[in-house]
Amino acid sequence: MEAVGAAQARESGDSHDPGFGVYVHWPFCAQKCPYCDFNSHVRHGGVDQAHYLDAYKQELRYVRDRVGARPVTSVFFGGGTPSLMQAETVAALIDEIAKLWTITPGAEITLEANPNSVEAERFKGFRSAGVNRVSIGVQSLRDEELKRLGRLHSVAEAKAAIEIAARTFDRFSFDLIYARPKQTIADWKTELGEALAMGSQHLSLYQLTIEPDTPFAALHAAGKLVVPGDDDAVALFETTQEMTSAAGLPAYETSNHAAPGEESQHNLIYWRYGCYAGVGPGAHGRLPVAVNDFALDAVRLATSTEKMPETWVEKVSAQGHGFVEQTPVTASEAADEMLLMGLRLKDGLNLVLVHEVSGMAPGDGEIAQLVADGLLSQDPPHIIRATDKGAVVLDELIRRLSESFGRV
Ligand SMILES: C[S@@+](CC[C@H](N)C(=O)[O-])C[C@H]1O[C@@H](n2cnc3c(N)ncnc32)[C@H](O)[C@@H]1O
Ligand code: SF4
Repeated sequence: MEAVGAAQARESGDSHDPGFGVYVHWPFCAQKCPYCDFNSHVRHGGVDQAHYLDAYKQELRYVRDRVGARPVTSVFFGGGTPSLMQAETVAALIDEIAKLWTITPGAEITLEANPNSVEAERFKGFRSAGVNRVSIGVQSLRDEELKRLGRLHSVAEAKAAIEIAARTFDRFSFDLIYARPKQTIADWKTELGEALAMGSQHLSLYQLTIEPDTPFAALHAAGKLVVPGDDDAVALFETTQEMTSAAGLPAYETSNHAAPGEESQHNLIYWRYGCYAGVGPGAHGRLPVAVNDFALDAVRLATSTEKMPETWVEKVSAQGHGFVEQTPVTASEAADEMLLMGLRLKDGLNLVLVHEVSGMAPGDGEIAQLVADGLLSQDPPHIIRATDKGAVVLDELIRRLSESFGRV
């Protein structure tokens, strides 16, 4: 019997293009935070930005040759700390992207910023360069917590950066980390309440993850850093969902909250399984495949670049790009990835899109069972969403659906 999702998919004609994004990774930071495992490096001797700019441009040209002409619907400068870039470097990169492809009118161009005062002073320059949205890494509204997180900025600087961002850009967002050591629900309620009163239309709220091979992981292993247990973490998560919804910034993705229409268009490309180029040291990308790659059952090309900045530059000047991985993603891997990301979205997973990309659909029997268990909702039939109950056991939900996937 044919899966409901796939049949609906064909009949509904309800398909939407997630767009094509360009992600630029700037891998340098003023200091390494003890919880962070992003590809970030400290260079006390400074960074020759003009030298790096040449390499970025070269790698962009390489990607352009691979994927051809297409409209770019969003650009994201992530890191590391892109607010350490000179405005001229950012401007030159945006110009290069616009020259190689076309940037659609009104495209979202985001830059991640650390809220140190020196960096906030650069906001105007970033705006003139073409950036129209900043995402500020505030992390906490408590000075003693910022110290514990190894941050270089104060709460006052973070608040000042938010004010400057509100004056300078059409849109801005900020990040907080919660479920920190010894944090009680009452503490978090007060802190989140303060954050929600600061006028941002978008917030990214992440539970602290103990990443392997970080100083926090060593402290955790030694029993010197204790994070909230599972029950407390669930309670903190639920409090977060309730308070953000009540404030008009409901979660549109597990950790991302926005007023309607203020969602990050770039991140939605990832979560809706659109294609994106990733350039710069340690960047990941998902590129469209050439027609003849279909013979390999590939529906996307997963790319990643050399992580060490100096080695990346050498590779780019030797071979035109710093890619160390260009791996075909098979239809069934793509279906799993879509499941993983789509179920984090409030709008859910569009089975039309899953079928278009992978030719696969989850089994009707499993969907019906998960709906009966109260973990999943299906409305209309080609959209499935994790319920509040399901969101708490998302891994289990994803595993069961993944096992039921079949070609239709
Ligand atoms: C690439 S990082 C940082 C951007 C910027 N350099 C900063 O630190 O503000 C993006 C976000 O990931 C979050 N993050 C990084 N490591 C984390 C961890 N171990 N647990 C939870 N959130 C984390 C932080 O909220 C951070 O703002
Ligand atoms: S959290 Fe941000 S500033 Fe800190 S090391 Fe990671 S990328 Fe750099």
